[in-house]
Amino acid sequence: MAALEGAGRTGERRLSPSPQDWLDVEKVAKKVFGAVDWAKLGEIYFHEDGERQWQERRQLVIELGGQLARRLALHVKPEGMSLWAGAGVAELPVLLAEVLLLDRTVVAANLLEEECDVLNAALAQAAPQVALHYETGDARDVAGDQAFDHLGCISLFTDPETWPAVSGVTYGRLHPVQLDLEQFATERDQVRELASGLFALLNQEACITTTAEEVAWFLELAAKQERQIEPTDDVIETAVVGDPVGFLLLS
Ligand SMILES: C[S@@+](CC[C@H](N)C(=O)[O-])C[C@H]1O[C@@H](n2cnc3c(N)ncnc32)[C@H](O)[C@@H]1O
Repeated sequence: MAALEGAGRTGERRLSPSPQDWLDVEKVAKKVFGAVDWAKLGEIYFHEDGERQWQERRQLVIELGGQLARRLALHVKPEGMSLWAGAGVAELPVLLAEVLLLDRTVVAANLLEEECDVLNAALAQAAPQVALHYETGDARDVAGDQAFDHLGCISLFTDPETWPAVSGVTYGRLHPVQLDLEQFATERDQVRELASGLFALLNQEACITTTAEEVAWFLELAAKQERQIEPTDDVIETAVVGDPVGFLLLS
């Protein structure tokens, strides 16, 4: 599907898919989206009117996912391995592009079994030939002892269901008078531990796809471990949570 072309910060070979390749993978993403049970996914993501809310966002998810995948292709090597922690439907077009166009292996983990089931059912129906499967569980457990050259972490540490206090502070939704300091400290330790566990799975040279709101967790780790970490200039909006996404290059 894709041609090899020299590029990249360390001179490794990178895949350079053609415009037609990108259109083909977008077609696969649309086919998979056509097989998703949006009513069920609507119940998982929204308090009410979920199916309609998804109808309004579906096209945007495909478009922004394609944009993110095109940028990611500039920062990762073919045949590498990605760990996507907290991956949901918004990441699906990117994951498909990684597997189909960039010849990469993708491990996608999410705590919500129902969401994984809905997405896996759609993949099995519309794209059974694609080696892509969402695993239910903590991303660290799902990853096991594998090593990765890319970590995808989009609106994970800001998850309001798992860490309401950390999320509230990050987004400026919690006023100091409302903040339970003990709960906040506990959640911050948990997020630090998760960030550190995911960071430890990365190769010496690696890329992290993450949101502006989550960058600080990785900067802290890189500083402690005296590793170089550089943000790239890319900024892409996300369709679901809405946080701007970019890349950190680790060396
Ligand atoms: C706010 S949602 C974001 C979903 C998706 N990344 C997006 O941007 O639309 C956060 C997700 O992270 C998942 N999550 C939280 N902790 C996790 C962990 N330790 N391992 C894997 N997934 C986790 C939750 O289950 C939830 O689905």
